[in-house]
Formats: sequence, structure tokens, C-alpha cells
Amino acid sequence: MEQEVQVKENFDYKKIDEIIKKYKKDDGMLIRILQRTQEAVGYLPLEIQSYISEKLGIPISTINGVVTFYSLFTQEQQGQYTIGVCMGTACYVKGAQEVVDAIRDELQIDVGETTMDKLFTLKTSRCIGACGLAPVITINENVHGRLSPADVPSILYKYIKTHKKTRVEESLSKVGDKNGA
Ligand code: FES
Repeated sequence: MEQEVQVKENFDYKKIDEIIKKYKKDDGMLIRILQRTQEAVGYLPLEIQSYISEKLGIPISTINGVVTFYSLFTQEQQGQYTIGVCMGTACYVKGAQEVVDAIRDELQIDVGETTMDKLFTLKTSRCIGACGLAPVITINENVHGRLSPADVPSILYKYIKTHKKTRVEESLSKVGDKNGA
């Protein structure tokens, strides 16, 4: 029988309950529940691991072991845009480290960190199979190739501008809704 669990943070626990209910009888249900929860919440902080642990009656150490073992899971909140700098051989030889340094300078974060405004997370990756475009970075699903460190500010600025435009459009549509437009 499921336990009542006290919650502190403002996560969508109703959604997590639905996920648990849907998958708890499946084989490999823990991984599936963690995957679906991460899709819904964006990451798997300890509060959520502990909630799932109590709901499923599985020790938190087991759940945390799974979360830390698989690289697809993250315990940190990610930025809206994840930058992946390829550090494969072709990209490395063509200056990937300089590109990483330029991004770090521009965003004032280290690899593995997220900007304060939660807009960008910086990561490195292995070869993504676009060696002909080396050095390569991905920003979410977009690939940017043949980069030099000098290209970094303008590329990042495009995402910042898109984000701001989306925010303004959202605000305007809310005003429109309020006015019955
Ligand atoms: S080494 Fe970077 S894409 Fe292959």
C-alpha cells in the first residue's frame, strides 16, 4: 500500500503520483519512473528521489545509486539551453578547448554548471559524429560547427534574444487573455 509522504518543495507531485501509478507494476519500473519523472520535472533532486523512495518502499540509497550511475539522470536543475561542446579528437585538435574557454568566459560558469538565470547549462561531450564540422557544439538539438572562440558571443546572443522574444510574446498573450482578446 502507498504511503502518505510529507512534501516540502513546490514540485508537481500529482504528476509524479500519476507516473508511479502508471509504471509501478512494470518490469524495470524504477528506471522508467525516474525517466518519466525527470521528463516531467526536468531533474531529479534529492527531495524527489526521497518522495519516490517512500512511495515505492525502495531505500533512498538504491534510488540515488541508480540516479548517479546513469548519465541520463541529473540531480541539478538544467538550463533552458544545454550547450554540449564536443571534446572528441577531431574537435579537440581543432580548438574545442578554446571554444569551451570562450563559453566559460562569456557565461561565467564552469563545465557542468548552469547560469543563474537558468538559461544555459554547459557540458562537454564525446564525438557526436560531425567531425567534418569540427570544432562543434550543440545547443539543445542545434549543431554549430567550424567555430572559433570569436563566434561564441554572437551564437549565445541569438539564444538570449530568442528567449527574450518568447518571454515578451508570452507576457503579451497573457495581457491579451486578461483583456479578453
Ligand atoms: S570529434 Fe567532434 S564531432 Fe567528432
